[in-house]
Parts: sequence; structure tokens; C-alpha cells
Amino acid sequence: MCGIVGYVGQADACEVLLNGLRRLEYRGYDSAGLAFFADGAVQVVRSVGKVAQLAERVAAEWPAAVRARATAGIAHTRWATHGAPTEMNAHPHADESGRIFLVHNGIIENYASLRRQMEGRGHHFLSQTDTEVLAHLVGECYRGHLFEAVAQALKHVEGTYGIAVFTAEHPGEIVVARNGSPLLIGVGTGATLVASDASAIISHTRQVIYLQDGDVAVVRADGVDVRNLDQIPVDRAVSHIDWDDTAVEKGGHAHFMLKEIFEQPESLQNTIRGRVDLRAGCALLAGLNLTPREMAEVNRLVLVACGTSLYAGMTGQYAIEDLAGIPTDTEQAAEFRYRNPILGPDSMVVAVSQSGETADTLAAVREAQRKGALVAGVCNVVGSTIAREAGRGVYLHAGPEIGVASTKAFTSQVLVLLLLALALGRGRRLSREEGIKLCQEINAVPALVQRVLAQDGAIAALAGKLVAAQSAFFIGRGVLYPAAMEGALKLKEISYIHAEGYHAAELKHGPIALLDAQTPVVALLLDVPGRDKTMGNVQECLARHAPVIAIATEGDTEVAALVPDCLLVPRTGTYTAPILAVVALQLLAYHVARLRGCPIDQPRNLAKSVTVE
Ligand code: F6R
Repeated sequence: MCGIVGYVGQADACEVLLNGLRRLEYRGYDSAGLAFFADGAVQVVRSVGKVAQLAERVAAEWPAAVRARATAGIAHTRWATHGAPTEMNAHPHADESGRIFLVHNGIIENYASLRRQMEGRGHHFLSQTDTEVLAHLVGECYRGHLFEAVAQALKHVEGTYGIAVFTAEHPGEIVVARNGSPLLIGVGTGATLVASDASAIISHTRQVIYLQDGDVAVVRADGVDVRNLDQIPVDRAVSHIDWDDTAVEKGGHAHFMLKEIFEQPESLQNTIRGRVDLRAGCALLAGLNLTPREMAEVNRLVLVACGTSLYAGMTGQYAIEDLAGIPTDTEQAAEFRYRNPILGPDSMVVAVSQSGETADTLAAVREAQRKGALVAGVCNVVGSTIAREAGRGVYLHAGPEIGVASTKAFTSQVLVLLLLALALGRGRRLSREEGIKLCQEINAVPALVQRVLAQDGAIAALAGKLVAAQSAFFIGRGVLYPAAMEGALKLKEISYIHAEGYHAAELKHGPIALLDAQTPVVALLLDVPGRDKTMGNVQECLARHAPVIAIATEGDTEVAALVPDCLLVPRTGTYTAPILAVVALQLLAYHVARLRGCPIDQPRNLAKSVTVE
């Protein structure tokens, strides 16, 4: 979604800001803008479309010599919520006096009433945004001291925000604040940066301060002063980011998505490193911070998540119920939070989120905490809001995921949930021998994924069968049912082909009416419980002339004989099979989208981290 970059330093602010915005492009946006200070004044440039268009405007309007003298500024990529993606609605927005400039991520919920009140006091608004209202509010509170004005204005605001505010009257400082929208400060040498996402500033510094909700900070080239809204100083530690800018570059691949698909043997290895105790047949999950007794007392589990993470949760649910014998539900996070869920102190709620910032999943975490449940996060982004607020959990360690379509996070999520099932299971009904067998299976996954990736050429050929389709079905049973939904999600989001993931048994309860020779069915027929029944469902599809693509287990001659368009993946255990199936489906979706010429890393309308409800 929206992205923020800010810089206070010696020179070349424009270049730093534009490069930062380029690094945030993956988040999804529809307009961009920046404000920089040079030669005694703040200049604002905004543009609809891509950062490249903004950069062209900046270069056309400001000579290189002026840009080189820019010492500070703020910049933004906007994903439209209030008002269409127009230049007028793009950030930065100015206050009534035109002195104060502000960029904002999040939503000001009471903006309409604030706007009405200010219009009554003679304010004129140029945009339809909630952000401009906030800029005007800061302007009203401004008496020459920017920090005080921001802190005071924010006391009138309801909603979520990450903001950066800037004025020519104090060109050496940017005031930032956060409530429910991530913001971090990069501490450099002779320069300080601000960003909504570390990838924007990682090429300048790996030393960062993660702001917390309620923080307001003054950022200067030589230091940072963090306070709360009552202006009382608060202590925020400087953290070191343990990845560098090579992690946010394509590394020779055509797209980030492809790079991340191919990174999976390594990202999965990082996920399991130090967590598999082969001798004891157990999983070591120190971040859960639970004693064996506390683990044993958990008698209900709820996994909450959205999108791909939801499907990872559904996959994990099979393993947790079967291996640990704990009743487990997986719930769409928005549904969970508004449904008055029944939870108690012996319930554990696990929030699964790559970004750790998804608004609905975060709200579910807060609801679960209010109800007294144990809450844990399964997040990828270190220091993210869900990871911090859950207070306990397991990081994926999959590395930054830049492609909007989630790939390596899904496979790591499934593996982490399997480790959780193992840890919970060993305290209950799983024997040491069974535990050891599972550990061996988990340890083997990265190499097996490598073997799936080696079939990239064969998968690209199968993609040809889908490329002209208007609609497709993905079917599976048991652990492969959520995998089918994930495969369909990947296809629709990057290739724009309408695709539905269905339980194989459910197809004949309605959707089979849609099958014909133009509607392909991708059937997950790996050798796990349910395979034989799905074979029957495939026969039903073939009888309706639907073209079928199968994914099955190596050596399964029966599937290969029935379905000529068949991809064979290595044999593995029931709970690791969905990982292999989904890696194949990721590549299938990728190649279909590539053949259709789609913008794979930035699909239309999509954002990487969904921070609005
Ligand atoms: C799909 C995708 C989304 C996310 C969803 C949740 O490829 O990326 O469906 O999975 O928005 O995001 P996180 O995991 O960050 O909570």
C-alpha cells in the first residue's frame, strides 16, 4: 500500500527520495510525490502513475544543480483510498498557509467532521483526501514549533497513521509519528532517513529505530528525539537489520516473484535452521516462550490470517489436529474479530502474517488479547506490529518478500506451523520415533523443493494450456484443498484469469455446471489421503471435456496414464506435500502471467501489505 520516505542530510535529497520510492514500488500504488528543500524553499512535485513519471517531472521542473543542493525532503507513493488517483490527491499535501507539507499512510477516520469544522473556520481544501485534512490541522496548531503542532493535532485524530511532516521554516528537521501504520527511522552517518519499510533505506543504513504506536519524533541529520503525544521522551532502541540491499534486488531474475520462488530451498533452510532436534524428535521454538507445561495446557487453537497466509493456516491446521490432537480452527481474520469468538485462557490464537502489518490480522490479535487468550505471531518481517504486539511467536526468516504475490512466505509459514504441530504433538500423543520421522521429513523439504524447481521448463510448457482460458478450477482434498485455493489465488492475482480453488468433492455441488472444453481444471493428485477420491473427480471433469492438468507423485503411473498433462513431484510426507504442490503452482501461475504479458511484480489494484480494513 502507500509508502513513505524521508531524508535529512547533506545533499542530493531528491535522488535519495526517488531511489527510496523505487524500492517501495512493490507495495502497489497509483501516484507519487515528493517535497524537497533547496535554496531556501520547499518545492513539491506530484504525479499520477509510476515513480519513473515522477522522476521525469522532477528532472523537467528542477535543474540538476538545484536538485543536488536539496538537503532534506519527504516523499510518498499513494494507493488510493479517499479520492481517485489524481495529481491533486497525491501526497505531499499542504496546510492552508502552504507552509507545512505532510505525507501519510493509513486512514483518518474522523476526517469528514474535522474537514467540516475547518471549512467553517474558512479553510479551503484542494483534494478529496483525509490526509489534506490532517495537514490543515497541523497548520492550525502551528505556532513556530513543528513537533508541538504535530503532537497537538494528532490528539484530535481518530484512525491510523504513519506521517512525515516538513516545513521550510525548519528545513533541518522532519517530524514523524505513528499509530497503526509502520514507520522506522534509519540512523546514518551525517544523515537520517525515515521510511515505512526498511527496503527503502537499506542501501544507506542498517541501523534503525522502529517507532511504536503513539510515538512522535523529530528527525535531524545528527540525531533523533522520540517522544509520546504528551511530549515526554521515550526510549527506543536502535536495531540492526540483518539483511542487505542484495535481498531487495532481482539478482538476474526477470521478476522478484521468480527470484523468490527460486529462493525457496534457501528460505526454507533458514526457516528450519536450529529448530529441528533430530535426536529428540522435537521442534525448538524458543520465540514461543512457553514452558512444556504451558504447551500442554493449550486445548484449543485458532489460526487467524488473510489471503495466502490464511491458506497456510488452513494447511497447518491439518497437521496440528492430527499430530497434536488439539481442536483447531483457521479463521479469516476480519471474520474472527467481528464475530465475538469464544476464547479462554487455555486457547492459543496464532496470527499468521508475512508482513506482520495486515490490519485485520492485527485487529484479531488485539481482540484475542482482550479475551485473555495466549497469542503468538508467525511473521516474516522482524519488528513488525503483529510480531511486537503478540509478544511471542516464530519468525519465518524467509528474507524480504518483494513480489506482491506471496510465494516463499507461504512455504515457510506451512513449515513453521508443522514445527508447531510437532512441538505441541510431542507433549501429547506423538512418540519420539514418530517425531524423528517428521524431523527427517522436514529436513528433506529444501532439497525436494529444489527438485520441483528443476522442472521449471516442464511447468512453463503446461502453462501454455492455461494461457487462453477465461476461467479455471483448482481442486484438491485434505491437505491439498488449501493448496488448491492458493494455486487459484496465485493464478488470478498475477494473470487476471478468473480461477477458483475448490474442494474436489464440492465441484459437483454446483461449479461443475461451468465445466466445458475451454475451462481447465488443475487437479492436485499427490499421494496423500484423498488422492483416490480426487481421481474419481478428475474422471468427472474429463467426462465434461474439461482440459485437466494434474500434479502427482513421482512413480504414479495411474495418474500419468489418465492425465497426459501431468507434472510429477518427489514423494514426501502428507504434511509437507502441500509445499511441493504449491511451489509447482507458483511456477505455473508465473509462466501463465508471463505468457500473457502481465506486470507480474505489480499486479493491478494489489498492495503488498494491506493496512486498511
Ligand atoms: C497473495 C497475498 C495476500 C497476502 C495477504 C495477507 O499473494 O500476498 O493474499 O497473503 O494480504 O498478508 P500478510 O501475510 O502480510 O498478512
